[in-house]
Amino acid sequence: MRAVNVGIVGLGNVGSGALEILAENAEQIRLKLGFPLRVAAVCSRGIASKKLPAGLGKIKRTADWREVVSDPAIDIVAELVGGTTVAREILDAAILEKKSIVTANKELIALCGADIWSQAIKAGINLAMEASVAGGIPIHAVLREGISGDRIQAIYGILNGTSNYILTGMEKQARSLEDMLAEAQRLGYAEADPAADIDGHDARYKLAILSALAFGERITPADIYVEGIRRISQIDFAYAGQLGQTIRLLGTARQTAEGLILSVRPALIPRSTILANVDGSYNGIWVRGHYGSDTFYYGRGAGSKPTGVAVVSDLMRVAREIRSGSPERVSPFAHERLGEYKPISVLEQSRPYYLRFRVEDRPGIIATLAGILADRHISLDAVLQLPSDDKRTLPFVITVENTSERALREAVDAMASLDFLREPPLALPLEGGL
Ligand SMILES: NC(=O)c1ccc[n+]([C@@H]2O[C@H](COP(=O)([O-])OP(=O)(O)OC[C@H]3O[C@@H](n4cnc5c(N)ncnc54)[C@H](OP(=O)(O)O)[C@@H]3O)[C@@H](O)[C@H]2O)c1
Repeated sequence: MRAVNVGIVGLGNVGSGALEILAENAEQIRLKLGFPLRVAAVCSRGIASKKLPAGLGKIKRTADWREVVSDPAIDIVAELVGGTTVAREILDAAILEKKSIVTANKELIALCGADIWSQAIKAGINLAMEASVAGGIPIHAVLREGISGDRIQAIYGILNGTSNYILTGMEKQARSLEDMLAEAQRLGYAEADPAADIDGHDARYKLAILSALAFGERITPADIYVEGIRRISQIDFAYAGQLGQTIRLLGTARQTAEGLILSVRPALIPRSTILANVDGSYNGIWVRGHYGSDTFYYGRGAGSKPTGVAVVSDLMRVAREIRSGSPERVSPFAHERLGEYKPISVLEQSRPYYLRFRVEDRPGIIATLAGILADRHISLDAVLQLPSDDKRTLPFVITVENTSERALREAVDAMASLDFLREPPLALPLEGGL
């Protein structure tokens, strides 16, 4: 049977991983498909200096992506460039040429994936995007097909390997955030500018995509409250440990009686939950269904080969549709159409919270803070203070019972002017029920 021809644009981490798998695993792929999946063209800006894996046969090499997209021999274009400018041009051009697309681009899909899918439907081609969330974990396939018969109630995800690497190192090796970040950069887990990872933006793109699949709404990153991990310090793990908890950068999407609430933020989670054992650069996603209850997905959230597997598996799925002549037409967003519902503000959520203070020690501090909380009908749960010699920036923690985030933020704002506080209080939700 004739091969299906693939053009790969972008030969960085993901592109080179996918290419190596396509070359090395070609026979397995042929056996599974019943026909060969052939790499017919590859493209990157610095193509002249790229060493390609052996066994690919005759192949077009170019620095101009247009030569891939417009090549009549190419059936599927894999966009593995990243960003929102050239990548969008590549996808638009491929759709015009009626070529199906495989992409790993979380940013572009989170920002305008629904529009790209509408264009793709009109052109009668497919859009596959498994690698855009959690690299090696096939979470799209799960939401799109595996548990599509269920009604999703909640998603809790550790979606950024870099921040998880930093937080688990702080917890288990008692090291500082700065130290762990420097190590993550040395190992190539974190970029020179780590903002996208540690400020939560990368995880927010991924949660936007997962929420669209799970709830069928056109969710964009701007709809999701985001807070990074920069303010978490070593002492927070000590206090969290005393409470039987740990701290993770958690993406949550929950259907509540009031509406859908979405956030990416550091949260306390029970030490006993399976999510607390997602260590290092791994990702974990917990999905709660109305009928099927809880399912959990774990694996490498990034990396050349794990993400390469996701890309190659997408290429195989799309190739099967092309070869059979009957596109499956399962929407990549798991819903025929995405609605225009907007999530409600995180201020409406009710949770117990952890408040960590650094104060200049003096009598009456707890009474003053408790008074501010009581004025907003917020009940104290516990006060924790570990021994410390430094009385000028003494850390201690107050946990409060279930309260609305709106009331909690009002209380934190009211505390801002207190002259004994060395820095604004750190407020983290306690995510129970995991
Ligand atoms: N890295 C991961 O583990 C991971 C995981 C999941 C998803 N993703 C997503 O996968 C995509 C690719 O990420 P990556 O880490 O592989 O990026 P990368 O290492 O920076 O690779 C990007 C590639 O695109 C090529 N490129 C850039 N501009 C181009 C242009 N105008 N024309 C042709 N080629 C161009 C680059 O060429 P030169 O090298 O020749 O400059 C490079 O080969 C991104 O959307 C990313 O978010 C990455």
